Amino acid sequence: MSLQYRRPALMKTLGGAVLAATKTLGGAAFAAIAALVALVPTALIARLWQNPFAKKLAARCYPFFTRLLADEEVLFLNWAYEEDPPMAVPLAASDEPNRGSIQLYHRTATQADLSGKRVLEVSCGHGGGASYLTRTLRPASYTALDLNAAAVDFCRKRHNLPGLDFVHGDAENLPFADQSFDAVVNVEASHCYPQFARFLAEVARVLRPAGHFLYADFRPREGIAAWEAALADAPMRLLSERVINAEVVRAMEKNSQRYLDLIDRLPTFLHGVGRELAGVQGSRYYRALQRGEFSYRMYSFAKD
Ligand SMILES: C[S@@+](CC[C@H](N)C(=O)[O-])C[C@H]1O[C@@H](n2cnc3c(N)ncnc32)[C@H](O)[C@@H]1O
Repeated sequence: MSLQYRRPALMKTLGGAVLAATKTLGGAAFAAIAALVALVPTALIARLWQNPFAKKLAARCYPFFTRLLADEEVLFLNWAYEEDPPMAVPLAASDEPNRGSIQLYHRTATQADLSGKRVLEVSCGHGGGASYLTRTLRPASYTALDLNAAAVDFCRKRHNLPGLDFVHGDAENLPFADQSFDAVVNVEASHCYPQFARFLAEVARVLRPAGHFLYADFRPREGIAAWEAALADAPMRLLSERVINAEVVRAMEKNSQRYLDLIDRLPTFLHGVGRELAGVQGSRYYRALQRGEFSYRMYSFAKD
């Protein structure tokens, strides 16, 4: 057999080995996180979470989630948002099951007018928010980026809309030119970034002057001082800030039964960690938000 024929076979074998290693790593990272979530008190997890290595490990779990949930039409990976009285944002019937998660995106993104704007979303997950905002707020373009290559592949197949495209990349090293966007959207993801200040510097770099950073996320009590200090140091001006624990807890309650039904369809050993990560009523993360041990906030900033 000539080298010409051997090379593809060799590449295939190597490729297979790399894929298997990636899957194993993802699975191992997931198993480590699952054990943490299930066994370690929330306060200790919060302290461990200050460590950039823990965040890198957590980010490795997302491809595992994407493969695990491939047949479940899971388009959002956030804890959702509901007001009192309910927001009642008008939705297409196909969006209705994701109302809470959509409302978190809606409230975050509508802090600025995005119509006709060039929008970047950092950490789009499974792309449900990118699809909803593209369809309803009519930006000129919407570029959605995530570190999870499996999610980016999923999004490219699942969300096919004019003006919307998906990019594989890192929040701390955005693959875009300076001043190339009018707005950056970021929902429930920055707690995963090992160097949050670096992400903020990247946001400011890719925004044009007067562009907006529209942002929502949470931190455990132990991480709040560092979070606030990084935001205060960011080269952007704070326009608004709101604690939204009550809204997130209300949405978790509304979503609980739907998530419990989904978790029931997963392998049994994932049920405990699934309930925790989904934040169903009574889970430790639900209680931590309810008691104020975690602070969930929504912000908007402008670049001067
Ligand atoms: C909790 S999910 C939220 C996803 C989406 N924003 C949503 O609300 O459905 C966090 C996302 O952050 C992504 N992520 C983690 N670290 C990242 C990084 N360094 N750069 C870009 N994305 C990252 C994960 O892959 C995951 O999709």
